Amino acid sequence: MRITYCETGHFFHLKTSEMSYAFGVAQDGRMLHLYWGRALKDDESLMPIAAEKLLPSERLRGTGSLRFEDFELPTHEPGDFTEPVVWPRHADGSRGVRLRYQRHEIAGDELTVWAKDNDYPFEVELHYRGWGDLPLLGRWIVVKNPTDAPIELQAIKSATWHLPRGLDWRLTHMAGSWGAEYGKNQLMLTQARTVLQNDRLTCEGAQQTPFFALDEKGLSTQQTGEVYYGLLHWSGDFTINVERQYGKNVSVTGGVNHFDSRWNLKPGESMTTPMFTGGFSACGFDHMSETLYDWQYDYLLPRGKKIDKAAAERPVIYNSWYPYEFRVDEQNCTGLLEECAKLGVELFVIDDGWMPGRVDEKAGLGDWVHDTARFPNGLAPIARACHEKGMLFGLWVEPEMVNPDSDLYRAHPDWVIRDPNREATLQRSQLILNMARDDVRDWAIEQLDRVIEEYELDYLKWDMNRYVTESGWPDAALEEQQSLSIRYIQNIEKIWQHMNEKYPDLLLENCASGGGRSDFGMVPYADRINRSDNADPVDVMVLHEGFTALFIPKTAGGAGTIAPEVHHIHKRKTPLDFRIRWGMTGSMGIGINLLTASEENKHQLKAGIAEFKQRRADLQNSYVYTLASAMQNPYAVFEYVRRDRRAFTVFAFSHGMRCWDLPMPRFRMRGLIADAVYECEDGRRMTGEVLMNYGFECPMKGDYHSIVSAWKVVE
Ligand code: DGJ
Repeated sequence: MRITYCETGHFFHLKTSEMSYAFGVAQDGRMLHLYWGRALKDDESLMPIAAEKLLPSERLRGTGSLRFEDFELPTHEPGDFTEPVVWPRHADGSRGVRLRYQRHEIAGDELTVWAKDNDYPFEVELHYRGWGDLPLLGRWIVVKNPTDAPIELQAIKSATWHLPRGLDWRLTHMAGSWGAEYGKNQLMLTQARTVLQNDRLTCEGAQQTPFFALDEKGLSTQQTGEVYYGLLHWSGDFTINVERQYGKNVSVTGGVNHFDSRWNLKPGESMTTPMFTGGFSACGFDHMSETLYDWQYDYLLPRGKKIDKAAAERPVIYNSWYPYEFRVDEQNCTGLLEECAKLGVELFVIDDGWMPGRVDEKAGLGDWVHDTARFPNGLAPIARACHEKGMLFGLWVEPEMVNPDSDLYRAHPDWVIRDPNREATLQRSQLILNMARDDVRDWAIEQLDRVIEEYELDYLKWDMNRYVTESGWPDAALEEQQSLSIRYIQNIEKIWQHMNEKYPDLLLENCASGGGRSDFGMVPYADRINRSDNADPVDVMVLHEGFTALFIPKTAGGAGTIAPEVHHIHKRKTPLDFRIRWGMTGSMGIGINLLTASEENKHQLKAGIAEFKQRRADLQNSYVYTLASAMQNPYAVFEYVRRDRRAFTVFAFSHGMRCWDLPMPRFRMRGLIADAVYECEDGRRMTGEVLMNYGFECPMKGDYHSIVSAWKVVE
């Protein structure tokens, strides 16, 4: 990103080859938004916009009525009714802030602007950053209290994005529930505030992904039209406030949710908000996804030390959860891992159930040692057995939770989130440890270090299975109690940061009852995301589309992306070949009981794993395009295009086809090199141009039919 400050026009221009963003400083120091959208040629292009928008304040006062202004950081100043980004209550009871520019610094692709309240000693830093030439801009603020009295921050968001005025916008967002994450929702904005939010603290991603996209009149398609979008890097309570004011003045303000949260800014202290990244695509929703993929591959994903984890292919996993739930022991795990090795599995994971008394959901959470009754020799011999067979070893943990029936709870009943005068609500027989407390955070780090080292882990699956109720913190000072939801997530981030720093090559899975924490706050820490607890392959036809709109395919995991024959949610019975094909579309994970599986099924699995390994390089570091959506069709078609665009693979799945669905369309490919010649495994040859404009057929039939078609550039 190229960042300049134009002295004559008094504005900043943050530019990549596809996107420009600009804001300026009026004579009286007010910072006003100027432009966001398609890249403008140079600073000169912004001059007339600056001249129109950065009006001298006398002219404003002289009009008799206030002119609406697009403040770069809205704080409800006169003439600004946008959701405020910062809302402080000063020590004398006065509320609000009037920020004026002080100075700035540009360092590479980062810009910092220092601003100060006109009348109160209150300071805010506005931060901006780019990532190479990607059409993305990250924004956050730092608020400082230079006084000797505390300031209460009643609202503290990250940034506001202003959209071009006077237009009709359609909002796209993703919402759902456990098992039904990433549902695509679309609505036309009216003169109202539409609030995308979470107030359950944990599990926010399942209800509402912290993401928005806006396109004009709803006319943009996957491949055409402008899309303005944003992602909040925060895994806790958030709001993304999409508002249309009079005059079709549309803005989006996002940050931590101020429901039940306050931050007491002590004298001399500062508070940093999460980042809120905005992006722009001039070529529809597909290009939004391409940009997000490039961002994750090249900048965000954990990198590792010995292996470049961001670039590495994800191992084929076996997970004990679906076949055994809590009933794991040394005998079945040893038997399973031996079967795994025969099939070509690369990582064996013991899921929930390995701790003392954890034979069901009622005990064990909090006591992170193995159950000596079921694992008399501990877990290290299992780890070693895996290593001897050339496999990695992984383990499940749920560090944020505790069962009342645990040694931890008996020793520290005060460590849970609770209201002193109300009965604590149990969900799945568990309570939530108050991770806002630094002593609880340090305890969790200690436990994790020990578990990772003692059990010789190569992989750790972090789970989290309930939302917050009775969100009290009675031991904290009164003015700190309402900071719980913010401190909680800050400490979760610190723990994940610690694990990444201390064990850079450990593979980490982000699971929260499935996809409860699928968000860009977690992307920099985890190598794999549990896409959903729902691995029913018919539902995955929908889930995978939503997931891959934002997240890269190789991170798409779950306890068994190759699910059991009868999946626990719908009790639907599906054939193994259909499930194996689905396993290939993400991070392959087997959730089938290999100790009871027939020889025929094991043979099929072995062949499926071998086929996946042979295709994996073309699938995992790729862009995914949804060519046909299961939301509109009884089939789903996905195209995986390798990042160098020289190979692509099409997966087609059908369920519930009727005669009325025939004849099927030809599917036109996307994202190929127009003049390159691609050859299919079956010998067909076509140029990229023909594949993209004419396409080919994927004739699907009835139920549970799947097709794979892989093509490569003829060298
Ligand atoms: C919820 C997760 O999503 C599952 O994969 C599994 O780990 C269970 N929790 C274990 O309790």
